[in-house]
Amino acid sequence: MGHLESALDHLSIDELRQKVQELQEEMRMRNAFAGSPDAESSDAVLQWLGRSRILAERVPPVGLKPVEKDSFRAKKGNHRIIEGDNLAVMASLLTEFRGGPSRGVDVVYFDPPYNTGQDIFAYNDNYNLSKSDVQALRRRHGRAESLVSLDDPTRHTKWINHMAPRLWAARKLLKTTGVIIVSIDEHELPRLWLLMEELFGEKNRIAALVWERARKNDASYVSEGHEYMLIWARNKVELDAKRSQMSQTEQWQGDKGRWRKRKEGVDAILIAYAEAKEQYRNNVPKIQAALNAFFKSLPKNHPARKIRYKKVNSRGVYNDDGNLNWPGGGGPKYKVLHPRTGKAVKPPASGWRFQEDEMKSLIAQHRIAFKADHTKTPRLITYLQEMETEVQTSVIVKSGQRAVETFEAVMGKGIFKNPKDPEILASLFNLVTWRDQRAVVLDAYAGSGTTGHAVINMNAEDQGQRQFILIENGDPRAASKFARARYTADMTAERVRRVISGKWADNKPHASHDTGFSYYRAQDEITKRAIMEATRERLADIILQIVEDDSNRVDCRVEGHKFLIGRTKLGFGISLVWNATKTATDQLLTWPILEKILEEADTAKVSRPIHVYASANSAPLTEDLYRFHQIPNAILARLGVFDTDGDEDR
Ligand SMILES: C[S@@+](CC[C@H](N)C(=O)[O-])C[C@H]1O[C@@H](n2cnc3c(N)ncnc32)[C@H](O)[C@@H]1O
Repeated sequence: MGHLESALDHLSIDELRQKVQELQEEMRMRNAFAGSPDAESSDAVLQWLGRSRILAERVPPVGLKPVEKDSFRAKKGNHRIIEGDNLAVMASLLTEFRGGPSRGVDVVYFDPPYNTGQDIFAYNDNYNLSKSDVQALRRRHGRAESLVSLDDPTRHTKWINHMAPRLWAARKLLKTTGVIIVSIDEHELPRLWLLMEELFGEKNRIAALVWERARKNDASYVSEGHEYMLIWARNKVELDAKRSQMSQTEQWQGDKGRWRKRKEGVDAILIAYAEAKEQYRNNVPKIQAALNAFFKSLPKNHPARKIRYKKVNSRGVYNDDGNLNWPGGGGPKYKVLHPRTGKAVKPPASGWRFQEDEMKSLIAQHRIAFKADHTKTPRLITYLQEMETEVQTSVIVKSGQRAVETFEAVMGKGIFKNPKDPEILASLFNLVTWRDQRAVVLDAYAGSGTTGHAVINMNAEDQGQRQFILIENGDPRAASKFARARYTADMTAERVRRVISGKWADNKPHASHDTGFSYYRAQDEITKRAIMEATRERLADIILQIVEDDSNRVDCRVEGHKFLIGRTKLGFGISLVWNATKTATDQLLTWPILEKILEEADTAKVSRPIHVYASANSAPLTEDLYRFHQIPNAILARLGVFDTDGDEDR
């Protein structure tokens, strides 16, 4: 308890307030899972062996060591690829992305093992392995893991024990307006759905999408060629508030702040129109001729062909086929005069769709298309610019083969089975973030790196600065083309490198992108004991991982000094007074040491105040020269590790 008080001392009032709220929520959830469902809940819940332990288990953060060799143009972009078990890595990301109203990630995407009998996943298996077996597996992989066969009677239990803590960790990382998307198929859909209801709340469910990806003609009964994507909000009330805020913005006013995706094919038409307009200025017939030629040149299955906006006037591309009928009958019946014949046009049988005043204003705005004379009912004009978006429907029909082709074009054949489709992911990420150009997307089961590919494409489309964080642990199967130790670096990250450089396996010309990523490898757990026993180098790694201003990148390290270990993104120095092999006095910040630190800072041209980490401080406190951070409590506080009571027996 003593540790708890001193680590909490290092938090600001706001951080403390957030911490208390989190603890309350955590307690509520732990209680809900710890008790028997009958006693604790008023409705049906999922029961499985391990339920009572699942949120009670502490997941300490791990060190995330930057690996320069596997990073790619790290100074150009802030994307990250992290090799390691996703549960431990997510616990570590909390330092920087603990979800709140303005912090955290915008989207979490999970594409976990589907438990088909073919995939391997890590699971909490304490109930049928000996304690030492579990410890040995954990030391090696961070978790016990194995291939779970379809005739394993505890296969669902294992899968749930894998998923539940990861979904909970993801929830903590999400902004309060954030959204999680989880892919799954029929093997675990029932369990996943119930888990999501309990962990995220039934009221926060947004949709269960279906991706129809193939037809299985050899199916004995019915071809189940689809899979699911469950979409949940972290907090739908917050999301509703954001929607109403978005409805006030210029971009989302027309859609009243509702989620809308861009209609496929619209962009191609608008680009063709913009080019023709640039060339022919206000010559509408010439622009129309250019647009006709554009439509003619399109391949048969191009999505733009399905869009019924093909005419041009001085205001843009339009469609004049909107009906003017009052739905259901009984609408107003006033006179509307034909502009050429001057006679009243034929009104719709059900009456006009608009009241007379509104109709007059629509006529004045050239939004009513009169026919050749008054004998026919006019139609409503709509412009393509206003109809660019459409609602997302719950079924997405797209062959899974497209995703395979895209992956193989980048990486070649026989490397990865069943990659997801970057276009579908990009469209969904854009949908749930209102196309936010600064959205942060976390994919904890990165596999072939599809999410990275999708986010790079999204940024290229609108010059956005979205950020992706990919976590991948490697596939331990012998059949995998890559040794586990190189799987993430040589497959997940390699796809992203190639997408960035434009150098794909197909040797065709592809755009390159002015961005890059830092690569990290997960290390050992960071506990109080691990900090106190750490070498100087290891402690420097940990400190550089938790620096406040988003500096934990490959390039924040400063080498070659006795005390100085790095510089923050804003240029402030970071120093460490630590000699693990000697006595406590070797970890004390004294005035002479501070003088030496300031000298080093001048030589390395880093700014003051310097962040100095040491066990204790006897130098005078001078805020503009340095900030003292006490080891281990300041570090534990930043990592959110307050509960260190169990440290000793780990
Ligand atoms: C279904 S695949 C994801 C495919 C990916 N969405 C794509 O489009 O390529 C699941 C991936 O999660 C990885 N994985 C499984 N358990 C993991 C864990 N505990 N931590 C990190 N990655 C894990 C597997 O190695 C595998 O590559």
